[in-house]
Amino acid sequence: MPNATVLVVDDEPLIRWSLINRLKEEGYRTLEAGTAGDAVAQHREGADLVLLDFALPDANGLDVLKQIKETDPDTLVIMLTANTEVGTAVAAMKQGAFHYANKPFDLDEIMMLVEKALETTQLRREVRTLRARQAQPYGPESIVGQSDAIKTVRTLLHKISVSPASTVLLTGESGTGKDLAAKVVHYSSARAAKPFMNITCSALPETLLESELFGHERGAFTGADRQKRGLIETADGGTVFLDEIGEMVPLLQSKLLRFLEEKAFKRVGGSTDIKVDVRVIAATNRSLEEEVKKGRFREDLYYRLNVMAVPLPPLRDRRDDIPALIHHYIDAFNVEFRKKISGVAPAALEALHTYHWPGNVRELRNAIERAMLLSESVELNESHFPVLSAPGDVASGMNLPASGINLEALERSLVVQALERSGWNQTKAATLLGLNRDQIRYRIEKFELEKPQH
Ligand SMILES: Nc1ncnc2c1ncn2[C@@H]1O[C@H](COP(=O)(O)OP(=O)(O)OP(=O)(O)O)[C@@H](O)[C@H]1O
Ligand SMILES: [Mg+2]
Repeated sequence: MPNATVLVVDDEPLIRWSLINRLKEEGYRTLEAGTAGDAVAQHREGADLVLLDFALPDANGLDVLKQIKETDPDTLVIMLTANTEVGTAVAAMKQGAFHYANKPFDLDEIMMLVEKALETTQLRREVRTLRARQAQPYGPESIVGQSDAIKTVRTLLHKISVSPASTVLLTGESGTGKDLAAKVVHYSSARAAKPFMNITCSALPETLLESELFGHERGAFTGADRQKRGLIETADGGTVFLDEIGEMVPLLQSKLLRFLEEKAFKRVGGSTDIKVDVRVIAATNRSLEEEVKKGRFREDLYYRLNVMAVPLPPLRDRRDDIPALIHHYIDAFNVEFRKKISGVAPAALEALHTYHWPGNVRELRNAIERAMLLSESVELNESHFPVLSAPGDVASGMNLPASGINLEALERSLVVQALERSGWNQTKAATLLGLNRDQIRYRIEKFELEKPQH
């Protein structure tokens, strides 16, 4: 295995020297340690294989083996034992050592063992990557669309996934793809084979959320009859997705902030710090800035999360993606429903293109799904999309609420909606409101409306 790192642990400098020399000759990178304490520390630097002497001055090799296996079960360990220690060699094998070699050893024999062992790790890793790739349909290409806005998102998500960034904030309206983006980041990263844990902060009461996230010790509260690991601990090496972070209560916000800053936390009722390596992806469809202003969200946590923020644009700001998304979902549902729908009639396509999609991609997906279930023909048309049918004469069906309304504000909101839905085509917007062009122009000026610059 090219570039593999081998850690040599032996208290005799001469033995270390001869092993390291030979390993370097064979092209391996090397680390060395003369004590058990040093061995554990060096292993954290990242070693693929450890040559481990059994008799160390400060501990026995079995203890070191155990600690190494706890830190990274994939590290291969070859024990170096004196002939008299056959019993310990067997114990070492039981504890997960790859092999053992008797001292005094033959260097060629050791090199063969090292090579064989490293082949095993490489195979194991390949199997794992393949499995991870197969198990998930969340490659970057699962984010459909070629608009500049979505391309920017895809590029940013890719950069983040391969970066060491440990926190990410996804913002955007409901249905814009925050869940999808989180999975894309996880499954395109080196963390893909490790867990992706997902929790919705608003779904649980505060105390339950805390113990779900951080785990608890036995006896931490009534009913805690055994120790439990939290999501963050279970996700070690992987990703934790905190959905609806804006709903998290302040107490937990502090605990989360501490974790983000120190990469360590205590289980509920626990006193020892637990260190883990997870990437935290938080998502919100609320403006956290607003929540901060209202005093409901910690400012320091907001700044910490906002370092790597990815805003997901609403669908109406990237209408060029609508046709591609429609075809994406038609293809998908053709397979699922065993249908042969070929596309959408031009008039319906036009209407789908101008509709304002308050529920974003999710609403579009649902609309296509429903239309495809209803359609008997090979082409979808306007009759299959109830969202598109004009509301008609709502005046008679609209009741004035007892508290009254603000007519100016209502009028303004309807004009804005008509403009958004028509992509700021004034003639189309006017038609939606039963006005002529002059009448809508008058209102655009009156309300000082301006086309957003995207
Ligand atoms: N760009 C996209 N390409 C393909 N599918 C998408 C895209 N964006 C979103 N989707 C799909 O739209 C649906 C809604 O997306 P998702 O659940 O990720 O939204 P969300 O932002 O998490 O919404 P909420 O705030 O309501 O949780 C999912 O089925 C998702 O796969
Ligand atoms: Mg979501």
